[in-house]
Amino acid sequence: MTTAIQHLWWQRGIVYHVYPRSFQDSDGDGVGDLRGVARRLDYLQQLGVDAVWLSPIFPSPLVDFGYDISDYCGVDPRFGTLSDLDALLSALHDRGMKLILDFVPNHTSDQHPWFIESRSSRANPRRDWYLWRDPAPDGGPPNNWLGHFGGSAWSSDPATGQYYFHAFFPGQPDLNWRHPEVRSAMAGVVRFWLDRGVDGFRIDVLWHLIKDDRFRDNPPNPDFRPGMGPSRRLLPIYTADRPEVHDVVRELRAVFDSYPERLMVGEIYLPVERLVTYYGRNLDEAHLPFNFQLIRLPWQASTIKQAIDRYQSLLPPGAWPNWVLGNHDHHRIATRVGRDQARVAAMLLLTLRGTPTLYYGDEIGMLDSEIPADRVQDPYERNNPGLGLGRDPERNPMAWDATRHAGFTTGEPWLPLAADCATCNVEVEARDPRSMLSLHRRLIALRRAEPALAMGDYLPLDCSGDLLVYGRRHGDRRLIVALNLGQRPQRAAIGGFGGTVALSTHLDREGEAVGGAVDLRPDEGVVLIVG
Ligand code: NOJ
Ligand code: MG
Repeated sequence: MTTAIQHLWWQRGIVYHVYPRSFQDSDGDGVGDLRGVARRLDYLQQLGVDAVWLSPIFPSPLVDFGYDISDYCGVDPRFGTLSDLDALLSALHDRGMKLILDFVPNHTSDQHPWFIESRSSRANPRRDWYLWRDPAPDGGPPNNWLGHFGGSAWSSDPATGQYYFHAFFPGQPDLNWRHPEVRSAMAGVVRFWLDRGVDGFRIDVLWHLIKDDRFRDNPPNPDFRPGMGPSRRLLPIYTADRPEVHDVVRELRAVFDSYPERLMVGEIYLPVERLVTYYGRNLDEAHLPFNFQLIRLPWQASTIKQAIDRYQSLLPPGAWPNWVLGNHDHHRIATRVGRDQARVAAMLLLTLRGTPTLYYGDEIGMLDSEIPADRVQDPYERNNPGLGLGRDPERNPMAWDATRHAGFTTGEPWLPLAADCATCNVEVEARDPRSMLSLHRRLIALRRAEPALAMGDYLPLDCSGDLLVYGRRHGDRRLIVALNLGQRPQRAAIGGFGGTVALSTHLDREGEAVGGAVDLRPDEGVVLIVG
C-alpha cells in the first residue's frame, strides 16, 4: 500500500506556473517582476499550491521574452536582482513552498558571451560550442532544417562564411551538446542555482538537445496544415528526439540527484509512447516529462478517457505521472473550452493521478486577451500573422482587482488585460463562494486532504458519450469523479456504490447523498466519496 512517507513533495504537490512578465508589477514599468511575485505569496499560499515555477528571469535581449538567455547565472534587471531572487526563495521556503526555475539549455541568446566568442572566428576555442556548417554548394543553408518560428533554421554569418543553426529565432543559436565543455558548463549552471537552494528546474525543449550528426534533411510532413506552425512542413526526425539525447538527459539528472529532493521537469512535446522514454530506462532521466495531452487533444470525453488510460498503461513501473492544462505557449483553457467547461477541466486536472501544473490566471477562469495589431509583442505572430500562432493572448497580465489595469501595474501594462478583468479578477472572485477561484481553492483543499486524490491509484470506469468517470483509491478510501464534458444533462452510473458529493463544480450540492447513479447538469463535474 502507498503511504505518504514514500511520496516526495513534487509527487504530492501542485505546481503553479508564473509567467513573471505578467503576474505582478512592483515598480510601475508595466512588466511583472520578482518583488511583484513576492508580494503575492499570501495569495498563492491561500490557494494551496506547493511550488512556483517561474518562466525565465535571467538576463535576456528578449527576442523570445527570456527564452534567449545572455547570462545563465544572473537576474535580468527588469525582473530585479539576485538578492530579490534569494529573498523570494526564502519567503517561499518560510511558507513551506518550493521554487522551480526555467533552464534553457538548448540555445543561448546570440548576445551570450559564448556565442559572441564562437562567431568571432573559425579558430575560436568556443567555435564548436555551437553548430556551424559550411553553406550548401549554391551558397544557401547547409540543409533543409526549418526554424520553429518560420524560415530556415540556419542563419549565415558573412564574417566567417558559415551558417549557424537555431531551432527557434536567429537570436537563439543552438548549443552543441555533443561537446563535453558545453555539457560541463551547463552542469555548472544547474549547480549554481541548486547550491542557492532552488528546488528544481523545468527544462526547455529537452528533446531537442541533440541533432543528427550527419545533418541529414528532414522529410516532408504529409499531414502539414499552416495552422500547425511553419516548421511542421517537415517531420523533425533528424532535429529532435535523437537516440543520443538520452545520455545527455541522464547526465543532467545525475546533477539533480547529487542534491536532496530536487526536481527535474522536462518540456517535451512528443507522442506519449515517445514521451515516456524520457523517464529513462532506470527512471534515471526526467522526474516528470511534461504531459501535454490535455492541451493538445480535442476536448471530448472518449478521446480524453482513452488518453488517460493509455498514458497510465505506458508509464514505466515506478514512474510518476503529471498533467498540464495550460501554459504560456497555448491559448488559455477558458478560451479553448469555454468558461463553464473550464470548471470541469479544473476538476479533471486536480483529481487525476499525477502532479498537476496550473497556469497562473486559469484559477480565476481568465480568458485570452485580444491583442490589437499595434500591440503585438510575440515575433512568432509577426512572422506568421493571422494564423493564431502568436502567444501574447495567453501571456496576459493577471487580474487582481477592479482598479485600473486590474492591480497588475500602476504603469502601462506590456500586454492588454483580458476584456472582462473588471469582473473576472481575484478580488471579486474571492468574495464569491461559487466563483472559479473558490472552486480551485476547494479542489486544491480536497486534493490535499484526500490521499486518494494526491497519491491513490487511478481506476478506469466505464462511461460513454460526454461522460468521463474514474475512481481514485488509497487503502480503503474510494472516490469517484464523474465529469460531464458536454452541455446536456447526463446520468452517470457509479455501479453498486452509493456515496456523498464531496464537491461539485457548481459548488452547491456538497454533502448530497447519491445512490447507484449521479445526475449531472450541463458542464458539471462531481467528486463523490464512496461508501
Ligand atoms: C519552449 C518555450 O515554452 C517557448 O516559450 C519558447 O519560445 C521555446 N521553448 C524556445 O525556447
Ligand atoms: Mg516591473
